[in-house]
Amino acid sequence: MIRRHATMALHLVGLNIAGPSAKYRAAHGRLVQLMRGVYIDSDDNADALVLRNAVRIAHYLYPKAYLSAASAILLTPTPEGKLFLSSRRNQRTRLRALEIVQNTAPDNPAVASATIVDDFGDLTIDVSSLRQRFLESFRVRSEHATAVTDPMKQDLVTRLIAEYGSPKGAADAVWALARENSWYKEAEVAERWLLRQQPISVAHTEQNVDLHVAWHGVPIGKLRHDGFEWRWTAAKVNMPMIVRDTTPGKLPPFIAGLLPEGWLDRVLPGRDERDILLSGRRYMSNVAIVNDLANLAVIHADFLTSPLRKWTKRGLFTGQYLGPGRNQITDSFETQVAKLYQDADTPRLSGVQIKAPMHLSSKGELVEATGRSFTHILKPGGTGGFETLPVVEWFCLDLARRVGFNVPSFALVTMPEGLPPALLVERFDIRTKPQSGTLYCLEDFCSLLDVGSEAKYEATIERVARALRPISTDPEQDLLALFRRALFAWLVADGDMHLKNMALLKTAEAGDTAFRVIAMAPIYDVVTTRVFPTLKHDRMALKLNGKDDRLRRTDFTTLGRTIGLSAERANQAIDMLAASALLRVGRVKIPAIGGLSDTNHRQLEAIQNFVRERATAFQPFSTLAKTDSRVDSN
Ligand SMILES: Nc1ncnc2c1ncn2[C@@H]1O[C@H](COP(=O)(O)OP(=O)(O)OP(=O)(O)O)[C@@H](O)[C@H]1O
Ligand SMILES: [Mg+2]
Repeated sequence: MIRRHATMALHLVGLNIAGPSAKYRAAHGRLVQLMRGVYIDSDDNADALVLRNAVRIAHYLYPKAYLSAASAILLTPTPEGKLFLSSRRNQRTRLRALEIVQNTAPDNPAVASATIVDDFGDLTIDVSSLRQRFLESFRVRSEHATAVTDPMKQDLVTRLIAEYGSPKGAADAVWALARENSWYKEAEVAERWLLRQQPISVAHTEQNVDLHVAWHGVPIGKLRHDGFEWRWTAAKVNMPMIVRDTTPGKLPPFIAGLLPEGWLDRVLPGRDERDILLSGRRYMSNVAIVNDLANLAVIHADFLTSPLRKWTKRGLFTGQYLGPGRNQITDSFETQVAKLYQDADTPRLSGVQIKAPMHLSSKGELVEATGRSFTHILKPGGTGGFETLPVVEWFCLDLARRVGFNVPSFALVTMPEGLPPALLVERFDIRTKPQSGTLYCLEDFCSLLDVGSEAKYEATIERVARALRPISTDPEQDLLALFRRALFAWLVADGDMHLKNMALLKTAEAGDTAFRVIAMAPIYDVVTTRVFPTLKHDRMALKLNGKDDRLRRTDFTTLGRTIGLSAERANQAIDMLAASALLRVGRVKIPAIGGLSDTNHRQLEAIQNFVRERATAFQPFSTLAKTDSRVDSN
């Protein structure tokens, strides 16, 4: 018995034992094989062991299945040793005392997650949601249903009513799911069970939302909210697929990634995803989301009207700024920009800082993009110490361009009413000619990794690389681009290179059904965060080689190895980027624009110091050795 705690008695190949080792030990009588990949110690009580770790074994054997019916409630096998799963097909598997019974999952499941603890530690797995469990318990001629006892059903009734506020609310929620799967009979019985209960009065706002998602004017799918959950249905179109449905019930990650994060919430308070989606209709990459298809006709296609480089001289915008200003007496600039968003036609974009979507006309006039093609992003100065943010970003972009990054056109804009200069950036996810048939889609790494914006700091460069490799059309090139991006972030002390500040730009041509090119997008939102008073000790947003500070050359060479770059390429990239940053950082100059303060000068100096110090530390040994020997011989 003591031995059980000291060593693991259950062995799953690839999880806690290697295949050859398991085979060898089985051949020598030390292990017993229960089925492919599943072994136990030969002297162990197999029945107790498999029952205790039943969920782990089921998840190991059928990773795509989820626990359903009685098993979603109990999270253990029934007293008869049955564990119920739903998956793609009916199937039955016996392992000693354990029987895993699988039935075909409904087309539109509603799943939740649950965490169990067993001999291996904890495990988070998918389980049928409360509503689905309840419906499953009324399925006819179903072994899954039979195992749900009346007390279990009664318990589900109580929990559903608590969750949806009233018996009626719960019945509606159950019906909504039932309709999706044509489980009408089940819903009728379920409703009777629910309505037998006395109502408790908790108001629940239900709002059915039906939306159409279009890309370049073509409807590509429907987004429905039944008052409880989201449901995405793709349309059949001759276009590459841009929306993937991952967790049933959740907004698809790509759509969630289009929504504004912090600041719009502040100016349009108390809103959930439904309200945000209903309040606007235009998004990045020429995506439109409307509740009435007729509205598609009034939406402007976004394409470049006039390139910013035509209106830029020595880094400054030379056209005419006609966008929002501030009304000294009543409104702050932020309020003025916020007002733009009361118009549903104002394009929405993600990000935490306040930004204004702009249109640069062929005459060089810079105006709000509301009712016009959205061609450029205006990033104004912030408040509370962040007034100089646009100029700091300008410095970083200028250096990025000098050291060879793909950087969209950008310029500093003199703002009215004594506002600090703002940064204008050209969009790279739009057509440069209206008649071109090119289709662009920008997808950030939150969406690619299927995590919400709130988790944008919870990853590593290695994880980004793992997501990038299988999807990029030129993995070698893109892994190198990611590597250089991470190194640049370190050199300029940019602590904000998170999952939404890196993205893939996907490109297709008219008539394509798949993307031709999927590549790292040009660099954007690169800022030396350490120059801001509150961010003096800012570390890297994403760890690499397990570290987010005090990075050394070896951290990057290890990163290179982990993500599959050859040592030669990684070393060469480091040498070149460090040398070129060292050489060129001095050429970044304070732009000749009014409204700059001493702070801007100090911040540029600080950036240059970071780059010099960090790039010098990354110089190859050979260079240092040469310098040293020269010093010695003198
Ligand atoms: N040049 C560009 N072309 C197309 N899309 C862009 C461009 N620059 C930024 N974006 C998109 O707009 C979003 C917001 O821009 P950006 O990251 O510069 O703003 P931010 O508010 O400073 O972000 P953060 O939340 O990181 O502070 C980006 O996440 C990206 O999706
Ligand atoms: Mg950003």
